[in-house]
Amino acid sequence: MVSTIQDNMTRKKYILGNWKLYKNLSDITAFFADFNKQQTKTSNVVYGFAPTYLGLALAANLKKGQAIIMAQDVSDKLEGSYTGQISPIQLKDFGIKHCIVGHSETRKFLGANDEVVNKKVLTCLSNKIKPIICIGESLTQYKRKQTRHVLTQQLKTIFAGVKPTQATNCVIAYEPLWAIGTGITPTHEEITSLCGYIRKVLVSFYGKKIAEQMIILYGGSVNKDNIMSIIALKDVDGCLIGKASLSAVDMAKIIKEVNIWTRN
Ligand code: PGA
Repeated sequence: MVSTIQDNMTRKKYILGNWKLYKNLSDITAFFADFNKQQTKTSNVVYGFAPTYLGLALAANLKKGQAIIMAQDVSDKLEGSYTGQISPIQLKDFGIKHCIVGHSETRKFLGANDEVVNKKVLTCLSNKIKPIICIGESLTQYKRKQTRHVLTQQLKTIFAGVKPTQATNCVIAYEPLWAIGTGITPTHEEITSLCGYIRKVLVSFYGKKIAEQMIILYGGSVNKDNIMSIIALKDVDGCLIGKASLSAVDMAKIIKEVNIWTRN
């Protein structure tokens, strides 16, 4: 056994919303007008939102309290002739301290493979940006029962060169590709055992003490109706939420419920 329920409870819970290619400036304004009204102070829950690059400044300006504002992607290059890219230096300059890296949609549409994700993670960390690193298997790999092998290979490549002192600044999101935006989630047994497995791989890289501090999220078709049962699972430290994070009412409700749950 890698960790205990007690260990699970010593880590904060993370509720992160990925807004993908949604929300223009007026939508962001409306979101925070609603969200800020319903927001409660949370002590054990870290929460945040990832708008597009163009929405980052507005979101950072409008958010109240503890919400973190994350970028959805970043270049693996620091500067140079790379048209269309944004570097970790520029994110830092902009006051952004968190960035999703390796989301399956950036892998699919922008061609980021694990080697590129590794470079992004390293450049983020050396610029004090905390990466939220997405990993997960395809439906074919799932059906072929290759999930653990795929996760191990992804983690090996992505964490190459990440020092133990940097590892605790990384958040990992286990997002099976077949669960993203499909309304289908793995079973609770699968989620808990795979998040536990990820932690076991991290123990093999960094030892128990560091691995037990690392945050492991589940993502893929999480919503206000299923989140509480997922978040209660051993080794699941929170969720990365896509579609359901677009609603201020739902997100405020989720954060409130998780916060109450952590205190019981
Ligand atoms: P979903 O997206 O919640 O809409 O399935 C999750 C994600 O892409 O991170």
